[in-house]
Amino acid sequence: MSNAFDGIEPTAVRNVTCIGAGPIGAGWSAYFLAKGFNVVSYIHSKDEETSLRGLVNDAWTSLTELGLAEGAELARLVVTSDLGAAIKDAEFIQESAPESLPLKQALYKTLGEIVPPNVVIASSTSGLRMTDIQMQCATAERTVVGHPFNPPYLLPLVEVVGGKHTAPGAVQWAAGFYTVAGKAPLVLKREIPGFIATRLQEAIWREALHMIVNDEASVEDIDFAVVNGPGPRWAMMGPCLTYHIGGGEGGMEYCLEQFGPAFKLPWSRMDAPELTPALAKLLIEGSARLAGDRDYSTLNRQRDAGLIAIRKALDELAR
Ligand SMILES: NC(=O)c1ccc[n+]([C@@H]2O[C@H](COP(=O)([O-])OP(=O)(O)OC[C@H]3O[C@@H](n4cnc5c(N)ncnc54)[C@H](O)[C@@H]3O)[C@@H](O)[C@H]2O)c1
Repeated sequence: MSNAFDGIEPTAVRNVTCIGAGPIGAGWSAYFLAKGFNVVSYIHSKDEETSLRGLVNDAWTSLTELGLAEGAELARLVVTSDLGAAIKDAEFIQESAPESLPLKQALYKTLGEIVPPNVVIASSTSGLRMTDIQMQCATAERTVVGHPFNPPYLLPLVEVVGGKHTAPGAVQWAAGFYTVAGKAPLVLKREIPGFIATRLQEAIWREALHMIVNDEASVEDIDFAVVNGPGPRWAMMGPCLTYHIGGGEGGMEYCLEQFGPAFKLPWSRMDAPELTPALAKLLIEGSARLAGDRDYSTLNRQRDAGLIAIRKALDELAR
C-alpha cells in the first residue's frame, strides 16, 4: 500500500459524488449543488429517490436564502442506484452510508477497487475511526474522515482526520477542497474517538441525562437553559474565549484565578448514566412535550430558519 497522495487541484473539482440518501447524504448533495458542483447521488435502493429529492428540495429552499453560487442548479443532480455509474466521473466522494463498521468496511473495500486512487473518499462518520473503516480498502491512502455537523448544508464545520494508512497529503487535500467548497474544515491533530465537536456535545448530553434521571431538571429545563444561556453565546465564541471575557480586563488569567477552585468542585458527573427504560421514557415524553404539535418537517424548517438568521447575522458582523 502506497502512502502518497496525488490528487487534482482542489479548485479544479467540478464533479462530486455523494453516497447515501439519508439526512446527511441528501444534505451534502444539496450543499454541493448550491455551491455549483455537478452532483451524483448514489441511492442504495431505488425506492429512496423520492425521499432523497424531497430532502434535497427542502435543503435547497434554505440554501437559496443564504445565496447560491453562480450557475448552481438543482437540475445538476443525477440520482442513480448503480455504484459504478455513480463514481465514474467523481473527483471527490462524500460517503454518508449508515453508521455500521462492517458495512463501511465492505463499502470501502469496493470503493477502493473501483474509484481511481487520486480521488479522495471522505466519510461522514460521526465517530468511527478511519483506521478501522479503511482496513479492507486496497487504496486506503486517499480515505479520510470528513465529519459534518447536522444539517451539513447549513453548519460549516467539517472535522477532517485520516487513519493509520491515510496519506497526510490526502488529509491536506480534503481540507483544501472543503475550504474551496465554502466549509470550515478542522484538521484534527490525531485520530481520537468522537472527534472534537461531538465530544463536546456528548459531555453536555451526559450531564443533561444525569440531571434528568436524578429529577434535578426536566427535559424542558435542559433545553431552556441552553437556548437562553450558553447557546446564543456559543454561536459567536467558543467556551475558551467566553471564559476569557468572563475574566473581565484580567482575561483568562484572572478567570482561572477566580474560578479555578470551582472547576474542581464535584459538579460534573461525566460518566454516562445507565440508559434505563425509565430514563428513556422521561427523555421521549419530555421531547414530545417540547415539540408540541410540530412535526419533523416543521421542526426542521424552524431549525433551518434559525440557523439561516444566525449565519446571516454572523456574516454581517464579520463585514
Ligand atoms: N444524523 C446525524 O445527525 C449525523 C451527523 C453527522 C454525521 N452523521 C453520519 O453520517 C452518516 C449517515 O447518517 P444518516 O443519518 O444520513 O444515515 P441514514 O441511515 O439515515 O442513511 C444512510 C443511507 O445509506 C444508504 N445505505 C445503506 N446501505 C448502504 C451501503 N451498503 N452502501 C451505500 N449506502 C448504503 C441507506 O439506504 C441510506 O440512504 C453516518 O455515518 C452518520 O454517523 C450523521
